[in-house]
Amino acid sequence: MEDRYLTIALCKGRVANQTMELLENLGIRCDEIKDKSTRKLIFQDDEHKLRFFLAKGPDVPTYVEYGAADLGVVGSDIIEEEQRRVIELLDLGFGKCRMCVCGPKEAKELLLHREQIRVATKYPVIAKDYFHNKKYQTVDIIKLNGPVELGPIVELSDVIVDIVETGSTLRENGLDVLEEISPISSRLIVNRVSLKMQKERIEKLVEDIKSKNVL
Ligand code: PRP
Repeated sequence: MEDRYLTIALCKGRVANQTMELLENLGIRCDEIKDKSTRKLIFQDDEHKLRFFLAKGPDVPTYVEYGAADLGVVGSDIIEEEQRRVIELLDLGFGKCRMCVCGPKEAKELLLHREQIRVATKYPVIAKDYFHNKKYQTVDIIKLNGPVELGPIVELSDVIVDIVETGSTLRENGLDVLEEISPISSRLIVNRVSLKMQKERIEKLVEDIKSKNVL
């Protein structure tokens, strides 16, 4: 039986480009995807029977859970936040950053004394888990769509929970990392059915990535 196409959902932007660079090392090519002027959303490599599409980060685990994509590449922050039924196959080692509690220096006291504070974030599930289950601190969580750094500046919130990569957004807005919640990196995910039905191909892809990727 001829192999069907394997579909891979990629998080639009830098993660998609880093994924394609990694796959190019395996001989998988899809130059069209890197063309910044294209508005196309779906691309394929006919030689390897692979199809790629670009989605917003939080939608990647959704496509994978429902089987619209066999595989996906997305940050561990999004996997944790979205709580979808997907299996994590591999830490790809790129897209590294940290999930942190940030705010003005003075807010450190509010964290130390477990005050009832307001927390602005794009990640309410992660923020709630951290404050309620790990710190046993009662907080009001305010969901924003970004940029959340505005929260403490305009006094919407006392602190934020957000990703910090270089730290320059915080620095330029007079905020600091107050507590670190977890390290983040891009992961390869799969749905249970695809893993079962396409086991050999998926396992070979994982092994090939591992052999080329300096993890
Ligand atoms: C993220 C995050 C911070 C910034 C941190 O936003 O929400 O604002 O990057 O990066 P830095 O530490 O290197 O300054 P992003 O640029 O991804 O935009 P978004 O709000 O659209 O998610």
